[in-house]
Amino acid sequence: MTEATRELPLSRPWIDDREEELVLEVLRSGRLSLGPWIERFEEEIAERVGAPFAAAVSSGTAGLHMLCHLAGLGPGDEVITSPLSFVASANCFILEGALPVFADVDPSTLNMDPAAVEAAITPRTKAIVAVDMFGYPSELDELRTIAAPHDLTLIEDSCEALGARYKGRPLGSHGTDAVFAFYPNKQMTAGEGGVVVTHSKDVRDQVVSLRNQGRSYGEGSWFNHVRVGFNYRWTDVQAAIALAQLEKLDRILELRADAAARYAQLLDSIDGIETPRSDDADHQRSWFVYVVTLAAEIDRARVMESLRRDGVATAEYIPCIHLQPYMREQYGFGEGLCPVAEGIAARTLALPFYTQIDADDQVRAAEPFTTKDGSTIRELHHTELQSLAEAMLEAGHSTQRHYHRDTEEIYFVLEGAGDLEVDGTAQRVGAGDAALIPPGAWHEIRASTSLRFLCSCAPPYLHDDTFFE
Ligand SMILES: Cc1ncc(COP(=O)(O)O)c(C=O)c1O
Repeated sequence: MTEATRELPLSRPWIDDREEELVLEVLRSGRLSLGPWIERFEEEIAERVGAPFAAAVSSGTAGLHMLCHLAGLGPGDEVITSPLSFVASANCFILEGALPVFADVDPSTLNMDPAAVEAAITPRTKAIVAVDMFGYPSELDELRTIAAPHDLTLIEDSCEALGARYKGRPLGSHGTDAVFAFYPNKQMTAGEGGVVVTHSKDVRDQVVSLRNQGRSYGEGSWFNHVRVGFNYRWTDVQAAIALAQLEKLDRILELRADAAARYAQLLDSIDGIETPRSDDADHQRSWFVYVVTLAAEIDRARVMESLRRDGVATAEYIPCIHLQPYMREQYGFGEGLCPVAEGIAARTLALPFYTQIDADDQVRAAEPFTTKDGSTIRELHHTELQSLAEAMLEAGHSTQRHYHRDTEEIYFVLEGAGDLEVDGTAQRVGAGDAALIPPGAWHEIRASTSLRFLCSCAPPYLHDDTFFE
């Protein structure tokens, strides 16, 4: 595999000797679950995020689900959350029988717009699950002000945001119950896992009981169950990995911020791409993923196809929850419910992003967005056209050159006669014919072998006159 085709993954955890060392210690201890490592981790993470209490659980979803359970949500209740999130942000209360209500997002933060949250409140609303999307803190104070008069429970889904700060203080320290998650694409990982952080000892105690089948830890035997609970237990093996990760969390956050800054440098000046919102005095992002938003006229599928062809992993990040098949089916949601989120979700994509990403690999990932003059992604298809032209020249087709300098369209001049198929629509073309195809208007061009043609396009995309020589 050449350097150019080596796969760049979307994410990759940073695991080294320290994780191995601590995991081995746990394995040799003979106690793999419900042991001292979990408590150690809970103490350390609580301190780290500035919350008095923490309870480690098997996943972020498990933590959110238990908070929804504790909020007493049930059938007939409505819960407001963000449409632009991972499905777990809604599933956590749907599992309790509550109805999802989606409040549209602020296009700049990609988090719920507080005004939309307020507008979504009805007499049946019981809770709000606020999501710190892509590691950017949501408007916690405004949401609390909105929730208080209606007596709504506010739960913070911080699964993507460990290390982020709101108004100068870490998420987790603001008094709202919050959950962080440790799947391997997260800032820090434990393989799987999550942690509920809270300022209430009662919430902590109840989560500790609920995660372990509703056991009572106060008195009685091991088989003393005081409520219906779950098996949402974590293991000490996972806690060992997480403790090693926690030791280097500052470095992790720093390296991820550096990687994000490098992407910004590569992509910021390119017309047609919007890079993630910058921090401000109240919001300090913890870098989780690197998601860019393409201009509306750019064909995202083609951009992604081009990235993948170059061995660069990418993903649509993130489809709206309310448009997932089960949501449409179960609740009849459809397009138009949250136009801002839908508009964004249709235009965003994630680039490879992880703590130890190599700067050169980032250049490679950004390459398809840049043209010879480094100016704009809008001409991505022109880059592909160049490859097409090169392939045809190699195959012995015309080396004649033609430029249509005054437009931005792709311009084909044909020799011979044959079929030219543009996105499945074939046309019979003859010698001397020219085809003018507007930018962004084609995905795939096929030409019959009898057809000899050259292609070119206008500056600035091919400002090198010798390209077709
Ligand atoms: C916003 C958000 N909420 C909840 C979760 C659920 O976390 P987990 O996968 O650990 O259950 C995730 C995980 O990707 C997430 O991104």
